[in-house]
Amino acid sequence: MLKFTSHAGPLRLLAACALALLAGCGNKPEAAAEAFLQRHWAEPMPPQGTPPAAFSPLEASLDPQACGQCHAEQYAAWRTSLHSKAMGPGLRWQLMLMDQEQGNRCLRCHTPLAEQKALLALEHGWPNAPKQPPPDFVPSDLGHQGLVCAACHVRGHRRFGPPPRNEAVKDGPHGGFVVAEAFQDSRFCAHCHQFPDSGPRIAGKLLEDTYRQWLAGPYAKEGAGKQTCQSCHMPDRQHRWRGIHDPEMTRRAIEVSLKLQALGGGRYEARANVRNRGAGHHFPTYMVPKVELAFYRRDVDGGSVELGRHVIGWNVDTPITQELSDTRIAAGEARDFRQPFNAAGGDWRVELVVRVLPAEHYERIYRDALGRADQLPAAALPLLRRALDEAVATRYELLRLEVGAEP
Ligand code: HEC
Ligand code: HEC
Ligand code: HEC
Ligand code: HEC
Ligand code: HEC
Repeated sequence: MLKFTSHAGPLRLLAACALALLAGCGNKPEAAAEAFLQRHWAEPMPPQGTPPAAFSPLEASLDPQACGQCHAEQYAAWRTSLHSKAMGPGLRWQLMLMDQEQGNRCLRCHTPLAEQKALLALEHGWPNAPKQPPPDFVPSDLGHQGLVCAACHVRGHRRFGPPPRNEAVKDGPHGGFVVAEAFQDSRFCAHCHQFPDSGPRIAGKLLEDTYRQWLAGPYAKEGAGKQTCQSCHMPDRQHRWRGIHDPEMTRRAIEVSLKLQALGGGRYEARANVRNRGAGHHFPTYMVPKVELAFYRRDVDGGSVELGRHVIGWNVDTPITQELSDTRIAAGEARDFRQPFNAAGGDWRVELVVRVLPAEHYERIYRDALGRADQLPAAALPLLRRALDEAVATRYELLRLEVGAEP
């Protein structure tokens, strides 16, 4: 399961073997991956410690920019990803209201390195902040760089990664790397994209349940059709992690058809059928995004009437205590949205406009918070306003369909 591609000193081999032994010495790859992941995502993550003496400052640095000097492609892609923005204003204004214990609960997924937590503790004046300045291998802005390369790839200054595509470079930089097949396993992502069974629930449903939704759907089955989180979100190992914020990715997720039926007596029904054909989990997977279906009657003379709106999503109130509705669509399944209306005979068509609000739940939370701005520390307000602006700015139109009345 674990092996060193180079520079595998006897001590390190021992450590790797002990881990493999614990996991059944490679006979059970499943158990080995599980054991690796438990250790890799230990909570809290231990500090990296002192870098090996042979490391240059560049090899020792935890700065994504330092990794980018040699891994330019991953760095360029990561910079465009939401993982690099995981310490955005939406999290930062909330951290200002928290004590260290509450804060660390969020940082476990948003900035999990011990070195990042230490910098953020210093910034927030939390009691267990380090007394010494950070070591040279920790840049002072690491806490603001979100989910950095090292959080997924570096433990105790050793690099971990998937099996190499080519013969590994012998005597490569940073003492080589440890191969771990678990990097290609959906459970690697589940650490942050799945709450444990004991996690918070509304109406019996876990607030974050993406891995379980995937397990229950068609893509987790072994065989040719198997698609892991990585196959869809890191095709060709790209570090972009496109999701519902990206129109092209979202278009791949659904197939929409629109039909119109005359019911007689000037009554009609427009029916949109939405199939989740490309998301590996519910569409959308959790409560934050909403997808809006708006039906319009467009008259040839230019007149236009909105007939009604429907929402795809899990709608929960802002204190997160109550489910309002749940119209998410499980992987491979479909749902009808029916819009009845009256129309006189004449020349008109029905148009369906599908819009995506990737941060809808946060938009509501931020507006509520601004409504009681007097109870918030002044320093939090500019961040809160920016968070709301940024959340609203993520909205986009996905597609339009049109259908005419049958003659
Ligand atoms: C001085 C150049 C250099 C720096 C700096 C550097 N790397 Fe590397 N890294 C390499 C080379 C060369 C390889 C071997 C590449 C290969 O075999 O394809 C490698 C291999 C890796 C691998 C294994 C890839 C695989 O196939 O599994 C990972 C993961 C990795 N580096 C992560 C990092 C991270 C994270 C950082 C920053 C914290 C970093 N590296 C900094 C040059 C560097
Ligand atoms: C250490 C925690 C962590 C791990 C591990 C992790 N993620 Fe994330 N992921 C996050 C956080 C936090 C965000 C939200 C960042 C933000 O918007 O502030 C995120 C965002 C995303 C998004 C963007 C979704 C959108 O709304 O468009 C995708 C897609 C994603 N992750 C996929 C993955 C995949 C696939 C893996 C496994 C290879 C993975 N993540 C591993 C924490 C993690
Ligand atoms: C189990 C991992 C996990 C924990 C713990 C967690 N988050 Fe997140 N958070 C995520 C993921 C994953 C996303 C992105 C989901 C997506 O975009 O679809 C996210 C997105 C967000 C966003 C929206 C993106 C942004 O950066 O503006 C905010 C705000 C946020 N989380 C705040 C918090 C706060 C506050 C806490 C602590 C109370 C917290 N999170 C704890 C995983 C986590
Ligand atoms: C959320 C976790 C995560 C983050 C953050 C992350 N990676 Fe990766 N990385 C992965 C996973 C998972 C794979 C394996 C994907 C696969 O095999 O499908 C991978 C693969 C790699 C590889 C091997 C690529 C290849 O083509 O063989 C390198 C090198 C690498 N990452 C470097 C980096 C660098 C540099 C950064 C920061 C700029 C970074 N990673 C950030 C999870 C991450
Ligand atoms: C078959 C391809 C596929 C697989 C497998 C897949 N996803 Fe997705 N994922 C998508 C598509 C397409 C979207 C955009 C539409 C959407 O949001 O559902 C998406 C969206 C997301 C989002 C954005 C937030 C949201 O509410 O939808 C996150 C987070 C995410 N995926 C994480 C994961 C994780 C974690 C796994 C593995 C457990 C995974 N995905 C497996 C295709 C896939």
